[in-house]
Amino acid sequence: QTNDPFVVDIPKIELHVHIEGTMTPELRWKLSQKNKIPLTCGADKIALTSLEETQKAYTCIRGRIGAASAEASKSFTFFQIYYEGFDLLQSEEDYYDLAMRYFERAAKLNVRYCEPFFDPQGHTRRGISMEVIMKGFQKAQIEAERELNVKSQWIMCFLRDMSPESATEQYEAALPYKDMIVGIGLDSDELDRPPKLFDEVFRRAREDGFRRTSHCDFNQKDTHEHIRQVAESLGGPGTERIDHGLNAADQDDLMNMIKEKGIGMTICPCAYIRHAPESEVFVRIRKLFDAGIKITIASDDPAYMEDNWVLHNLYMVRDKCKFTDQEMVRLQRNAIEICWASDDEKAALS
Ligand code: ADE
Ligand code: ZN
Repeated sequence: QTNDPFVVDIPKIELHVHIEGTMTPELRWKLSQKNKIPLTCGADKIALTSLEETQKAYTCIRGRIGAASAEASKSFTFFQIYYEGFDLLQSEEDYYDLAMRYFERAAKLNVRYCEPFFDPQGHTRRGISMEVIMKGFQKAQIEAERELNVKSQWIMCFLRDMSPESATEQYEAALPYKDMIVGIGLDSDELDRPPKLFDEVFRRAREDGFRRTSHCDFNQKDTHEHIRQVAESLGGPGTERIDHGLNAADQDDLMNMIKEKGIGMTICPCAYIRHAPESEVFVRIRKLFDAGIKITIASDDPAYMEDNWVLHNLYMVRDKCKFTDQEMVRLQRNAIEICWASDDEKAALS
């Protein structure tokens, strides 16, 4: 059911959304015109020459990223399309625009507080300065709080397919913006990139007072070992949250550790059902929830995931996990408990 008033009206908290993954076709087209960067589509680099064509390309991307066919995954990977979008972001105003369009959408969906991820290495490696990125984000953040009643804090993610040295360099470049950044995350392509490679920089971030989380994408190679490293020891004692980590439901000892340590989990159902049968997804979500693990529901990269924002992800679990009204409220309470707002802000959100 996609107009359930209970789900529409419930005040929401979103803890897993990549700001770069919120770039709609409309914004992509606008930025390409403004910055005079031609848009192309796919490995064959077909030129996109209008908004309509860009919108159509997104529909095609959306249809194909999740496709099980080897042909489709050869010509398109999610990360190609995602990082191509980065190239369009050039000025402080562009970063402001990206963030503000998300905050406006969040306000409409009744999101009251969020902790968006950003991937600074994907920008600084193109020669964009941290100052340009952070000033743009900050302007949007202040305006969103004042005009839209959407509060936010940023999570800076390291790209795990880049080196640990690069992560450390990025970490140091971000220290002047520490006040804006509540936490540190780890994302991008997980293949053969175990979390422990980044132990040192996570340890440093912990000592400096940052909160910590890490992606463990669904059904990835070595996922159980990656979940174990993140929960058990990343940065010393392990992280406070895991992003995805749905395969923890496969092993009782992982579930027990996550539960005992009070680790929160951010779950993005629309991201999983593009690659896996629903039967593999919703049983696991139910299992984590019923075990009393603090899970919360979020959108991941909504612009690239069939345009499914947090509301639709909530509809999905409502429908497929058969969550009652009370259980839907529990999901939001979980989010308040595992979010990194101050105690005063948490009280205001309750
Ligand atoms: N960065 C942006 N989206 C991501 C995802 N779904 N998994 C890992 N890294 C990402
Ligand atoms: Zn993610």
